[in-house]
Amino acid sequence: MKIINVAGARPNFVKIAPLMSAFKAAGNIETLLVHTGQHYDKKMSGLFFDQLEISRPDVNLGVGSAGHAVQTAEIMKAFEPVLEGYRPDAVLVVGDVNSTIACGLVAVKLGIKLVHVEAGLRSFDRRMPEEINRVLTDAISDLLFCTEQSGVDNLRNEGVGGEKIFLVGNVMIDTLLENKAKADESTILAGLGLEDGKYTVLTLHRPSNVDDPGAFGRILDALEVIQRESPIVFPVHPRTSKNLREGGLAARVDQMVGLRMIDPLGYLDFLKLMSSAAAVLTDSGGIQEETTILKVPCLTLRDGTERPITVEVGTNTVVGTDTEKIISTWRAALAGRDRKVQTPPLWDGKAAQRITEIICDKI
Ligand code: UD1
Repeated sequence: MKIINVAGARPNFVKIAPLMSAFKAAGNIETLLVHTGQHYDKKMSGLFFDQLEISRPDVNLGVGSAGHAVQTAEIMKAFEPVLEGYRPDAVLVVGDVNSTIACGLVAVKLGIKLVHVEAGLRSFDRRMPEEINRVLTDAISDLLFCTEQSGVDNLRNEGVGGEKIFLVGNVMIDTLLENKAKADESTILAGLGLEDGKYTVLTLHRPSNVDDPGAFGRILDALEVIQRESPIVFPVHPRTSKNLREGGLAARVDQMVGLRMIDPLGYLDFLKLMSSAAAVLTDSGGIQEETTILKVPCLTLRDGTERPITVEVGTNTVVGTDTEKIISTWRAALAGRDRKVQTPPLWDGKAAQRITEIICDKI
């Protein structure tokens, strides 16, 4: 069986790593790894291939950054000849980025089976580009692999046949469990002069936060207070960095002496940074899941989450962008008033293995 695996943006690399290993271990699957080039900086891409020991992409479409239409269209144009040349039995896409829908659409139009890993998640907010990518990719996929029961329920509610849907667990957690011991050896805390459990980690990159001066301003108001009480480490995403500079906000954050802005980190250093943090403030999807397994309090700076299991059984609290709510929830998290947390069903490091078995059976 021949499968093309697609990856394009930073969180995709973390998800594809255990799948590549499981396909190799199966012995009867030949793979081609296609990198769309949506993310291209060493710190957003190459570092992840090195640290997660993912083989070099067989093909790099080299598409790079652009508006949604151009980026999606360029990926489609570049991916079609690769598919025609390789003629796989299936194309596997992960997550919800523009590379996911672009390559999925090309595959189904050529009559090739489409497999979506991390299917069914819904924020029910169609202003999010990722929500559009999720809904459309799921609508055209032949096999849909879900991380949590809400994903299965959402797909069933949208009329997807039960025979296509499989609750398998979470490949991002496969990677976390596989790399936790290695990450524990990271010297990032000493490098940044931080004490275990005595700092907060911040990540921010959603357009609804960093492209909107109102939301960004409310978050900065909260950070201003928090950084006076405890240090914040902030690995800055390129989109956020650009907006800070161009929006004239750089001077404001520079004045916050407790807010430490650093370049994006590699996987192992970031995992160590998260696991030793007192709390994490984020608008990322994957980090809500990772902090659930690490049992570190997570405050999600969005109005909702497409990953409700992280709130139901995990450490996640959805706080939105209200300044006072962010500050009070952060203080409560540090005071240790959090309830007991559980591991979501099947987040046990074996999701990629389950996916491989089902693909071998069904395709
Ligand atoms: C993309 C995904 C988002 C995901 C995020 C993870 C879509 C619609 N969005 O958002 O779901 O959570 O990746 O990081 O697919 N840039 C660089 N270097 C890079 C890549 C990007 O400098 O290697 C800069 C460029 O200025 C670019 C901007 O970041 O315009 C945004 O990149 P883009 O890939 O369009 O979206 P992300 O915000 O990264």
